[in-house]
Amino acid sequence: MGNDASAVLDTISPPSAGAPHADLFTPPADSSLWRKDFLLGAATASYQIEGAVNEDGRLPSIWDTFSATPGKVLAGDTGAVACDHYHRWEQDVELLAGLGLEAYRLSVAWPRVMHADGTPNRNGLDFYKRLLTRLKEKGIKTFVTLYHWDLPQYLEDRGGWLNRDTAYRFADYADLMSRELHGLVDAWATLNEPWCSAYLGYGNGHHAPGLTNVRYATQAMHHLLLAHGLAIQVLRANDPTSHKGIVANVGRGTPDSDSAADRRAAELFEVQHNAWILDPLFNGEYPQALFELWPGTEPLVLDGDMQTISTPLDFLGINYYFRTNVASDGAHGFKDVPLAGVERTQMGWEVYPDGLRDLLTGFRADYANLPPIYITENGMASNDQVIDGHVKDTQRISFLKRHLAAVDQAIKAGVDVRGYFLWSLMDNFEWAFGYERRFGIVHVDYGTQKRTIKRSAELVAKFLKERDALA
Ligand code: FCB
Repeated sequence: MGNDASAVLDTISPPSAGAPHADLFTPPADSSLWRKDFLLGAATASYQIEGAVNEDGRLPSIWDTFSATPGKVLAGDTGAVACDHYHRWEQDVELLAGLGLEAYRLSVAWPRVMHADGTPNRNGLDFYKRLLTRLKEKGIKTFVTLYHWDLPQYLEDRGGWLNRDTAYRFADYADLMSRELHGLVDAWATLNEPWCSAYLGYGNGHHAPGLTNVRYATQAMHHLLLAHGLAIQVLRANDPTSHKGIVANVGRGTPDSDSAADRRAAELFEVQHNAWILDPLFNGEYPQALFELWPGTEPLVLDGDMQTISTPLDFLGINYYFRTNVASDGAHGFKDVPLAGVERTQMGWEVYPDGLRDLLTGFRADYANLPPIYITENGMASNDQVIDGHVKDTQRISFLKRHLAAVDQAIKAGVDVRGYFLWSLMDNFEWAFGYERRFGIVHVDYGTQKRTIKRSAELVAKFLKERDALA
């Protein structure tokens, strides 16, 4: 598809008339979000939007295999077509630029850019070169994640993240990418949410590759973190001026009662979700409490690994969605105790903005080496419908406003947060939930691939315009 502006405009609906919620988004005058250097962007991930899984030499990934396995993904959905972004990337860049978004966080599909023998797949690489070049031309900052869960299937066939060798293959991949793409990338993230790759992938089996053993999860985590550390060193050598970091999903656990047992349960929840990753990165050791929760699951760690894993970073990406209310399980663990009467999203996740503020201030207190932070994902799913060409995603507007206020509170409390990425630019393949859950600020009709800007996106654009106009 050419870069034909009229073709682009055909697929973008005009802004809705009237602005019933216009005042809902605008942050208060003293908010740090008005600072022009606070980056506001949107995020996506390769498997969730690209489609074109068999084109230009792309190899299968573990998510192709997993989503083709009956019973793993809601309604049997797969990422085979997704948002067809591989073919529609030009109009999607126009969308980003049209909304005035300042940064775009995307991921590279490892199986698209490397052959199984480790040599580059030029056709796949060229796709990302074209995309990143266009983003740069539009003045949009590029945040590139190397691994957002689409491991090449041939590596899973050799043990995937249970095989230490995968960490070295990842370093090779980071080497290729940073040699090929340096100058086009403002910030590299090695991994997206290693907790999900390790625990959901190898511990409870909800994600690819679908294995179910907690001992596997701790070993997979170790190899993921090792891969991260090795890659940071390679990225630093090949592309010294860009920023380098990692993206972690973090969870807020609150105690169901004031009892010592429930308070300990909430602590253990946060050890399992947060300290499992952040302690190795910033303290160079695993939290011992993890192995109280999961006795006998200590990973095999070789000399020097923890040093590699704790290589200093330029930034930490934080993905935050909800809190979990927990109680003691009566043994040495915790159990979820869902609260009644609280606001929830289409995912069933509780809307709890204070959790984001409290986690950010807590990390600042806990980790002396904490680098600057970007909120690399925050957002919510709702059952959005296009009515008369418009999508009124009222709950999302209120959600975004409240979470941005929580970020502002954290900044005012001294946390160095540099920016915020909405999850997601557009509705997409939501992993085990397929296409039913809509996280986008842009609606996607999967039958026609028509993009419709939701009300939330219009209001973000309006805010950015107002901020831009300030002296
Ligand atoms: C995060 C993932 C992202 C998306 C959101 C809803 O865990 O990083 O790809 O699925 O959740």
